[in-house]
Amino acid sequence: MKELFIKDILNEQYIGKKITIKGWIYRKRELKENIFIVLRDSTGIIQCVAKKENFSEKDWKDLLDLQIEGSIEISGILRKEERAPEGYEIEVSNFKIFDKGSPFPLHGREEISTIMKYRHLYIRTRKQNAIMKLKSNLLKYLREELEKLGYIEVNPPIIIPVAVEEVQTLFSLDYFGKKAYLTQSSQLYLEALIFSLEKVYCLAPSFRAEKSRTRRHLHEFWHLEIEAAWYKLNDLINETEKYLKKVLERVIENDKKLLEFLGRDLKPLKNAIEKDWQRIKYEEAIEILQKKGLKIEYGNDLGADEEKVLTLEFEVPIFVTHYPRKLKAFYMKESGNGKTVENFDLLAPEGYGEIIGGSEREDNYDILLNKIKEWNLPVENYKWYLDLRKYGSVPHSGWGLGVERLLMWICKLDHIRETLPFPRLRETEILV
Ligand code: 4AD
Ligand code: MG
Repeated sequence: MKELFIKDILNEQYIGKKITIKGWIYRKRELKENIFIVLRDSTGIIQCVAKKENFSEKDWKDLLDLQIEGSIEISGILRKEERAPEGYEIEVSNFKIFDKGSPFPLHGREEISTIMKYRHLYIRTRKQNAIMKLKSNLLKYLREELEKLGYIEVNPPIIIPVAVEEVQTLFSLDYFGKKAYLTQSSQLYLEALIFSLEKVYCLAPSFRAEKSRTRRHLHEFWHLEIEAAWYKLNDLINETEKYLKKVLERVIENDKKLLEFLGRDLKPLKNAIEKDWQRIKYEEAIEILQKKGLKIEYGNDLGADEEKVLTLEFEVPIFVTHYPRKLKAFYMKESGNGKTVENFDLLAPEGYGEIIGGSEREDNYDILLNKIKEWNLPVENYKWYLDLRKYGSVPHSGWGLGVERLLMWICKLDHIRETLPFPRLRETEILV
């Protein structure tokens, strides 16, 4: 195992002391009398200098042979060195090579196809390292803040018998001779669970065979979903704004360094924490878009382009509410004499768009039954779901948040593939 990590030694306490550190070769520069090695581990980088005069011919040759990403243990005295990347340097006295490595196939300017082929190696980059750490922290805040609000974590199944969202995006599988699907959302199960636990959440992968290849669509993503009994749409929206502000506050408080490493301008995140979020109805969104010169009419869905225009209008996240019923799923509660539904999409600023889809659910048996029929879904399969409206139905609401979508905005990434070590995308084969 290993006792010292690079981040631990980058301080005054170790100056002048002999330390031993394990890691991988991040950079190497060979001069006549010196070899400069930048060593990396999971926590950071540190410059090490080996002087020829201190080593045997064999050792010197071994150091020269070391490849980028070779693994090594280095011992030496730590000192301050302003010219080194983090301001510290180790003067190497001994070393032990674990694996000298082989010529590393990635240098930093590869085409995306090469990066996807070598994804298992690409995830060693400092950028990926920072994103993965941020994601780990973000997931922790998302969970903890829900727990504080009284939500109980549950674990619905991934293999499911019926569609939750559009039938066209289902991945099917053979379940002992019968057709089953990979879940698109755990919502229907969460709805069943609120009658026992009242406020529940789950964090699980969801799967979508999306036709669209965009910067924000994955075929497998991490879905955080909540469901709460007795909540009307407004209760849900109010709570969601407070909840996500708290999560963002924790990101800024604890992960500033990671964000800065990624070059993230913190201002938009701070705006989202400090200012009231925008709330507009779908109808108003259409008017804004029309005024901006977009060709769009009432009844058209808002795609990535439209969402982008809207988010650039405001500097805070936007709740777009009350979409036309036909644009949204069968389970949403109707309003406006059946013209609209009690729903919202939450759009992240800076062009990012939808990160949450949520709604109040239809809690009336007959209306729900008719909608299932109208949506051409097999009523037989939804019998259990309809039962929930038969045995003590209550108003209830919930949402689903795309963890990668939220992370993508927080880090201001160009493409959602950066938010997962092994993304499932259609344009690239599953090689890793
Ligand atoms: O808007 P969606 O489809 O809503 C539902 O699935 C509801 N049943 C959730 C609920 O109410 N419990 O998906 C929810 C969120 C989206 O807002 C988006 O952030 C994310 O899931 N999402 C995706 N993220 C990445 N790639 C995809 N293909 C995604 N599809 C949805
Ligand atoms: Mg949606």
